[in-house]
Order: sequence, then C-alpha cells, then structure tokens
Amino acid sequence: MDGQESGQVCVTPVTRELLPAFLDYCRRHGAEHDDSYTGDADLKPIEDELGEENPSVVLLSLDGSVVGAASAMLSPRVCAPGRGRFRILHCTEPDVERYRAMLDALAAATEGTAAGVRGREMYLFVPEAAAPVRAILEQLGFAVERVSYGLRASNASVGMPELPAGFFLRPLRHGEDEQAWCDIVNDAFAHLAGHTHLVPEAVAETAFAEDSMPEGEGRLMLWCEGSSAVPIGLVEVRGPTDDGEYVAQIGPIAVRGGWQGRGFGRLLLRAAMAAARRGGFENSWLSVNGENEKAIGLYLSEGFRKVQAMVCYSRRLD
Ligand SMILES: CC(C)(COP(=O)(O)OP(=O)(O)OC[C@H]1O[C@@H](n2cnc3c(N)ncnc32)[C@H](O)[C@@H]1OP(=O)(O)O)[C@@H](O)C(=O)NCCC(=O)NCCS
Repeated sequence: MDGQESGQVCVTPVTRELLPAFLDYCRRHGAEHDDSYTGDADLKPIEDELGEENPSVVLLSLDGSVVGAASAMLSPRVCAPGRGRFRILHCTEPDVERYRAMLDALAAATEGTAAGVRGREMYLFVPEAAAPVRAILEQLGFAVERVSYGLRASNASVGMPELPAGFFLRPLRHGEDEQAWCDIVNDAFAHLAGHTHLVPEAVAETAFAEDSMPEGEGRLMLWCEGSSAVPIGLVEVRGPTDDGEYVAQIGPIAVRGGWQGRGFGRLLLRAAMAAARRGGFENSWLSVNGENEKAIGLYLSEGFRKVQAMVCYSRRLD
C-alpha cells in the first residue's frame, strides 16, 4: 500500500479510487466534528476530484476501511491569505499519534504544490463538549482562537416587519448587486474574527441560496431611498441544514457601519425569519462568535437560544 504506516493503520492521500470512501467517511462523521462543510451540498463540488485546493488524506485500517480523514480547504474563497480550514480532521479512535500521522501526511501530500499546507495557519471547529479531541488538538499544539455559538428560534410568531419611511427591502438582483453585497459584508465584518474578504464571484457562485426561499427572498438587501438608492444592510436565509432537519439557516446579517444601532439589524433578522416562515420553516438557526455581544444581544432578544457551542482551534503547520 502506498502510504505512511502508523501502528496498525496506514495514512495515504485520497486518490480517485479512495474518493467515495473518503466522502462517505465525511458524511458519517462530520456531525461528530463540524459538519459545516461535510453535508451533501458542500461535498458535491468535490465528488469527482479534490484538486490542489482540497488536499486530503485518509487513515486506513489493515482491512482497507477508512478509520480517519484529514482534509484541508485552501481556496481563497473559504480562507483569508495564509490560512486554511479543515473540512474534517477526525479519527474513529481518539489517538494522538493517528492525528499526528494524518497531519504529517497532509503536509507531505501538498509539498511542492502551489497551495501547500506547510507554513499556513490551519484552523477547525470542534464541539466544546468533545473533550478527548480537544485534548489531542492541544497536545498537537493547536490553540483556542475563539468560541462560536449556534442559536435557534421558532419562526412561529414572526411577521414581516414594517419599514420606516424612506427604506425598502428587495431581493439581491443577479448581475447588479453582488458588489454592493460584498461592500456591506466587508465593511460590517471587517473587525470580526474569522472574516474572509468576500468577492462578487463567490456571491454569484453560491446563488442557490435565494432559491431555497419563495420569491428570491433568500438574499434580501435593505436600501435607503434617495436620488440614487443606497444599500445599507443585508441578510441571507437558506434552506434546510444538511443534517436533514427542516431548519432555515440565517447568515450573514449585516448593517453598514454608519447605519448600525438604529433598529435595522432587528428589522433584517425579522424579515429573514418571516421569509423562512413563508417558506415552510418552523425554526431558524444561526451562528455567532462568542465575543460578538451586540449580535448575541439582538438574537437573544428575538427569542434565539444557544443550542451549540463550538471551539475554533488553530495552528501553523510546519
Ligand atoms: C449585528 C448587526 C447586524 C445588528 O444590527 P444593528 O442595526 O446595529 O442593530 P439594531 O440597531 O437593530 O439593534 C438590535 C439590538 O442589538 C443589541 N445591541 C445593539 N448594540 C448593542 C451593543 N453595543 N451591545 C449589546 N447589544 C447591542 C440590542 O439588543 C439592540 O436592541 P435595542 O436597541 O432594542 O436595545 C450589526 O451591528 C452588524 O452588521 N454588525 C457587524 C456584523 C455582524 O456582527 N453580524 C452578525 C454576525 S452573527
């Protein structure tokens, strides 16, 4: 077998033959780890080939079954320059040497490619309650960067909010509003941990978001009327989360710096929940950085409750 041996297992890059078993492993174990990028929709683009921006290795047992996987996402669409995110870093056995072997193999697999993992700040999220895995990551030199919460609320009593005079809400117009969408996101999120500069191509690429709500309401923009209307805020709401639950997923939600603190964030959140309700979603879900007290204050006051806590760990790989 072409790979690095570690005890009773062997680590090997994901080849075309191993791709189905690797994808199956991601789908089965994503939820124990962080399923943000291991759902069907997220794995679809790599079903045929992983490419240089998605280097991946698997841990194989002696009978050839996959018992661990490490997969990096290095695309600038996902990560800031110099950073990379793990799609998955998981073993069925919480064994530090197995994790170490996968990290070493991943670094070796990307040696000499344009987008290597060596020298990059690699990060991942793991459940706060996953004590054995957190202990392993800490043994491997990963440090806590931040905590992120998942919050959930019922859409039952939310109606479409009334807009103050001089403002209107409109679904994003394809081919026209992508740059304005990015400007608002990049302005509002500039100082928030984990933000990656958003480019119009990335907005266009994920256009499926609007389709999961009626009448293109999956991406709403708030405008201030004037001789030429000015976009000041936005919210996105997508269809069912990948774990099969019929829960709408809200985010990003953003209001331009100079327009914050005037009730527009609350208005956008209600508009997203109302769109979700009309789309048949009983509940909404969103995630927020632990230190974002302003957004957390807004969400709690709108009936959201914490249902998940994830810890972000990072380490420069050498
Ligand atoms: C979070 C955000 C969307 C809120 O929009 P906003 O227009 O500023 O918020 P609102 O004026 O509607 O305020 C809504 C509530 O937020 C809370 N809030 C606002 N400012 C706050 C502050 N400084 N500290 C704590 N809570 C605060 C309050 O509960 C407030 O309600 P109240 O005014 O009735 O007390 C906006 O500030 C923003 O774009 N921030 C940067 C991007 C971001 O953090 N997005 C969310 C990521 S999960």
